[in-house]
Amino acid sequence: MDSFHMMFVMLCSVFVVVHGFSRNDDLPILSFDEGYSKLFGDDNLMVFDDRKSVQLSLDERTGSGFVSQDLYFHGFFSASIKLPADYTAGVVVAFYMSNGDIFEKNHDEIDFEFLGNIRGKEWRIQTNIYGNGSTVVGREERYGLWFDPTDDFHRYSILWTHTHIIFYVDDVAIREIKRTESMGGDFPSKPMTLYATIWDASEWATNGGKYKVNYKYAPYIAEFSNFILHGCAVDPIELTSFKCETTPNLNTVPTGITPSQRAKMESFRKKHMQYSYCYDKIRYKTPPSECVFNPKEAKRLKKFDPVTFGSGHNHHHGKRYRRSRSPTQSI
Ligand SMILES: *[C@@H]1O[C@H](CO)[C@@H](O)[C@H](O)[C@H]1NC(C)=O
Repeated sequence: MDSFHMMFVMLCSVFVVVHGFSRNDDLPILSFDEGYSKLFGDDNLMVFDDRKSVQLSLDERTGSGFVSQDLYFHGFFSASIKLPADYTAGVVVAFYMSNGDIFEKNHDEIDFEFLGNIRGKEWRIQTNIYGNGSTVVGREERYGLWFDPTDDFHRYSILWTHTHIIFYVDDVAIREIKRTESMGGDFPSKPMTLYATIWDASEWATNGGKYKVNYKYAPYIAEFSNFILHGCAVDPIELTSFKCETTPNLNTVPTGITPSQRAKMESFRKKHMQYSYCYDKIRYKTPPSECVFNPKEAKRLKKFDPVTFGSGHNHHHGKRYRRSRSPTQSI
């Protein structure tokens, strides 16, 4: 680790050190204007009168998206999201962190991606990370959910610390990525901004591009609320100066997984995981080193759609200040 990173880690880790987590009710909920700005598709981004909820829509003209005003280094980031219902094949809603606009060649990323589906089939969630431009090594996992994410708002959260990344759905941890030595730079380790977008990913999102977006059903509307941006805000020009959030009650910020959460996570993964890069022999003859082979899991995952998303796609994210362009192209 170079001194740039070391300094962040020393200063920021002080603020993100508490154990266990079940609810985060005490964390400040921000209004849209306090935390975010419009990114693209202005006409398709509507902030509700209370300034606390936002609607993003996708139609034949454009998708839309917003971005956090600050860059963050580590923290807990969360939004409640309600996804568009009915026929949504090819539609992708993403809630993710990236620094592709600052580090074009060696960007980092932490992703929640919601993949639309044909009528009568459920949305799926995909999680992934990149570090230091490691876009040839996708670490995707996909899951079904235990509820219909188009019925109501559910909370999707990312915890990012120096040693691990945890994805949560409501208060269930669904994935933990522990930083390992052999991952090297593949673990996200530079300041990132948060993004929320809806866009047309007809080429890959549903059964590897078999089903496209059908604009007969547009506009596709995703709603966001309950914004939590609880981390160390970094100055975008001088990347080394930053300010960490403090909370009245630090116990509300998660930093790790308790044994009971771990049991819940294992049970979620057994029931709902549909794809893991660790078992994708077409992409990886030898899976990345952090993968632990579990024969039962391998067998279970075999029956899900065999479509692999391939590697080598560019994972560009739009320039933060260029609003006219669709900001994400995902694997
Ligand atoms: C990040 O990538 C660059 C090359 O793009 C490399 O020189 C550097 O060592 C990498 N950093 C880490 C921490 O792996």
